[in-house]
Amino acid sequence: MNNLAPTMNMLIEKLESHHSLSLSQYAFLIRHYSEEAALLLAEKAVALRKRFYGNAVYVRGLIEFSNICKNDCFYCGIRKSNSNCQRYRLSEEDIMACCHEGYELGFRTFVLQGGEDGYFTDEIMCRIVSRIKNTYPDCAVTLSLGERSYESYKALRSAGADRYLLRHETADQAHYESLHPKEMSFSHRMNCLKQLKELGYQVGCGFMVGSPGQTPQTLAKDLKFVETFRPHMCGIGPFIPHQETIYRDAAPGTVEMTCYLLSIIRLISPSILLPATTALGTIHPLGREKGILSGANVVMPNLSPVSVRKKYELYDNKICTGDESAQCRQCLARRMESIGYEIVTHRGDYIKQD
Ligand code: 5AD
Ligand code: FES
Repeated sequence: MNNLAPTMNMLIEKLESHHSLSLSQYAFLIRHYSEEAALLLAEKAVALRKRFYGNAVYVRGLIEFSNICKNDCFYCGIRKSNSNCQRYRLSEEDIMACCHEGYELGFRTFVLQGGEDGYFTDEIMCRIVSRIKNTYPDCAVTLSLGERSYESYKALRSAGADRYLLRHETADQAHYESLHPKEMSFSHRMNCLKQLKELGYQVGCGFMVGSPGQTPQTLAKDLKFVETFRPHMCGIGPFIPHQETIYRDAAPGTVEMTCYLLSIIRLISPSILLPATTALGTIHPLGREKGILSGANVVMPNLSPVSVRKKYELYDNKICTGDESAQCRQCLARRMESIGYEIVTHRGDYIKQD
């Protein structure tokens, strides 16, 4: 037996067998973080991810195609009121060139991520999606374009988009409102996620760990949301302050808590697609390795042209902004091999668990 308090052992066992805890039990688990609890959870999480995914680590090629955004999220480096951000927008040809390079490097999923940039209308976006799907029929296209209308999501899905990432950011309404200007609505965001699911996308939600105002209670709601919404993916990474935001002096999230939550999410949803994020790699040189060793199974190296990488700065000191795509791909392959995992060349779809 271990040295954990009996309540902790009971909760971990319950989580393992029921994939569910009450809100106050999730909060208890978070408040009682300890290195020993983290190790035990990581061991269970890794065993589960191996049952579904073996040693495979799925890769997604991330194309950050525009940093122009109409929103003003208080924490984000590309918020519209940051006048010190050099704005850019990739052309359709630039995006196709990124896919071409990515395909050669073995990527079979392309993630098109951008700010909420009005230039990319449904017409333009659908054309890009269908062009990628026609050129690379064996690839999945993931979109991460923020909040759009139901009709827009529907058109993009018909154009061939397979997956959509829209972090919910926090499942607590008051906390959401403290992180966003009043033009942004919690219920609208949650509604978008439901619509995406209805339309048959593989859907990813997610949140930052250690965002200003986050508490064990708000985090418990995030976990409950993951449990009940049953997303196919969940992107979590530490909050990292950006100098051009009001949170420039706020404390960043920690590697430890991020990894602890990755393990808990793996136990809630055994076959979920769970990235070890760039933000995690930014706050610790071995952050992504630690993420995989806590139950994550996806990495998302950057495929954007090096000339724009530094400009897509959501937070300070983002890694990989000076490296060519091929270097990133190789670097990650080596990193994964060093911990006994292997990057695979296929779409890496969600595996249904029931
Ligand atoms: N630190 C960490 N993550 C951030 N994001 C935005 N700003 C930051 C920051 N300062 C995350 C948000 C967003 C995703 C694209 O990046 O969760 O959904
Ligand atoms: Fe980009 Fe290592 S993953 S340099």
